[in-house]
Amino acid sequence: MDTPAPTPGPAPLPRFPADFLWGVSTSAHQIEGAVGEREASVWDAFTAREGVVRDGSTAEVACDHVRRYREDVGLLAGLGVGAYRFSVSWPRVNSPGGIGFYDRLVDELCAAGVRPVATLFHWDLPAGLDWLERDTAERFAAYVEVVAERLGDRVERWITLNEPAEHTLFGHALGVHAPGRALLFDALPVAHHQLLAHGLAVRALRAAGAARTGITNSHGPTWLASDDPADTEAAAFHDLLLNRLFAEPVLLGEYPDGMGELMPGSASQVAADLAVISEPLDFYGINYYAPTRVGAPLNTPSEFGGIPLPAELPFSVREITGRPVTDSGWPVVPEALTELLCGFRERYGDRLPPVVVTENGCAYDGLEDTERIAYLDAHIRALHAASAAGVDVRGYFVWTLLDNFEWAEGYTRRFGLVHVDRTTRRRTPKASYHWFREALREQRRPPAP
Ligand code: FCB
Repeated sequence: MDTPAPTPGPAPLPRFPADFLWGVSTSAHQIEGAVGEREASVWDAFTAREGVVRDGSTAEVACDHVRRYREDVGLLAGLGVGAYRFSVSWPRVNSPGGIGFYDRLVDELCAAGVRPVATLFHWDLPAGLDWLERDTAERFAAYVEVVAERLGDRVERWITLNEPAEHTLFGHALGVHAPGRALLFDALPVAHHQLLAHGLAVRALRAAGAARTGITNSHGPTWLASDDPADTEAAAFHDLLLNRLFAEPVLLGEYPDGMGELMPGSASQVAADLAVISEPLDFYGINYYAPTRVGAPLNTPSEFGGIPLPAELPFSVREITGRPVTDSGWPVVPEALTELLCGFRERYGDRLPPVVVTENGCAYDGLEDTERIAYLDAHIRALHAASAAGVDVRGYFVWTLLDNFEWAEGYTRRFGLVHVDRTTRRRTPKASYHWFREALREQRRPPAP
């Protein structure tokens, strides 16, 4: 497959500060492959089940990144990004020699002038562990110590967890992601134990003298289905569960709206945990994809991005109409990124550390991906608008470098700036790769006198 000619983009993007961190993100389970060289994770066990992944695929080979990482770092260098966010696989680190892979990757990145940003947990829990157990948080901190010790001299930024909300909701409440439990509200201990793991990890990183540390939460504005009180109440609950529950323990040291009472342990234990969870951070990572329109429960199950939601939830997700949708069925609403960031700044004021958008992107097929270019262009402008309105935004990472294993969607969603052939794993930069490279080059150009 030939690389398409660079498509001339729309008008140049607004300028960001010279030290703004531009990057792309990936995660271990979605690209690495080489599963035989590491312990099993909950995702290996989950994908072995019949019918849980749309195309019946697994991440056994994925993008074969463990073998092709040099080529992938070459793609990053060619793109001209300042940073690369990858995740470290806990099961790989548990395996003999496993951490050596990240050592080599980090060296390769540094040699290419790309700053490593490491996420310590992106959903691939070692198969024998369980977030329902408090002990998992302590084990996580011990693993983080090992990684910080080995890579801490070169990693530019650390991210403790990726999207604990989605891991709780999809993996433990609804059962559509690993480990495949459908516990609904009984999944709340999973949220608390991950947050505790985050706080313990921050302490471990600080003790190891590690560099800047943060967390990545996924957030999006909750839009009201109507002003009807039943809809307003349902929307507030959705916002509580998806936004506030994971932001407020970290930023404010408290659970919102009495949620702390639902967490495992005595009140004094939860209070002591919150002191750990709210360790000050250097930055707050936000993944943004789309807003959600929410209303009162309907008597029929609703859907969220193709995922069926049980009727017993106290809210329902409604369609956002009049917008283009990506291949994931998510509406394209760039201005909701401005709304989200300004809303966070308003809600949390000075308690909100500088923000880094650690993921933003879209699924579309094809190499001439004009829709992806339009998506990224519009979202970067929306980010600039938030920054102009006073939000302290320090970086933006595109999800993602390579077409990869998109969890329960298997290989049916292509989020990459680089196309990956499913049989040969050959990489072909898409038009969006060329567009982003040009946009970054423009950003680096000295401003006109
Ligand atoms: C986020 C995940 C990431 C990827 C994108 C599309 O929720 O963090 O791994 O699946 O969505």
